[in-house]
Amino acid sequence: MSRGLFITLEGGDGTGKSTQAELLREWLTAEGRTVVRTREPGGTDVGVEIRELVLHHRGDIDPRAEALLYAADRAHHVATLVRPALERGEVVVQDRYLDSSVAYQGAGRVLDPAEVRSLSEWATGGLLPDLTVLLDLDPGAARSRLDAARTRFDRLEAEASEFHERVRRAFLGLAAAEPDRFLVVDAAQPIDVIAERIRERVAALA
Ligand code: TYD
Repeated sequence: MSRGLFITLEGGDGTGKSTQAELLREWLTAEGRTVVRTREPGGTDVGVEIRELVLHHRGDIDPRAEALLYAADRAHHVATLVRPALERGEVVVQDRYLDSSVAYQGAGRVLDPAEVRSLSEWATGGLLPDLTVLLDLDPGAARSRLDAARTRFDRLEAEASEFHERVRRAFLGLAAAEPDRFLVVDAAQPIDVIAERIRERVAALA
């Protein structure tokens, strides 16, 4: 393996993306690769400010404005960090990329997923990952990982769980449409079993 590789991890909140990204980074490094481990939103200094705005702003952000903020983060991240690393022949291991925009902003049911995708393609000059690992997990199971103590859902949480169910279905639909780019892994499996499946697929990319 010596050419640049762009690997993204996708999935709902609490599906173990960061854990798997870290294990992949360690393995690739042991294989002699230089790895850039990064994430969206927030992989650059500009991105940290956009992340703060989009995730911690009090009050609503208009859906188109929100989509543009994620796209702006992505444009700057790809131009200043991801593409230069790939051009140096390095491996970029990244939590979330354009599929998150299509799944999450599309799941709000206001924006057309195809338009959200085009926006990201414009923002990145059409850069697609060599491999996208989808960690697929039932949102209820993901939630209990995040908050094991909670047993009762109030109305807002129930709405949130429908939203997360739509996000999950959107990710699975994206994976089915591009089977060559995606590896779908059952994220309910043990951490090392998941890590091994990812390593096998990455090794085959060389
Ligand atoms: P992240 O930091 O990966 O959080 P988590 O650990 O919960 O997965 O992502 C933050 C949130 O941003 C997450 O809820 C998904 C959302 N998001 C979008 O809605 N659109 C996007 O394009 C991206 C990159 C993230």
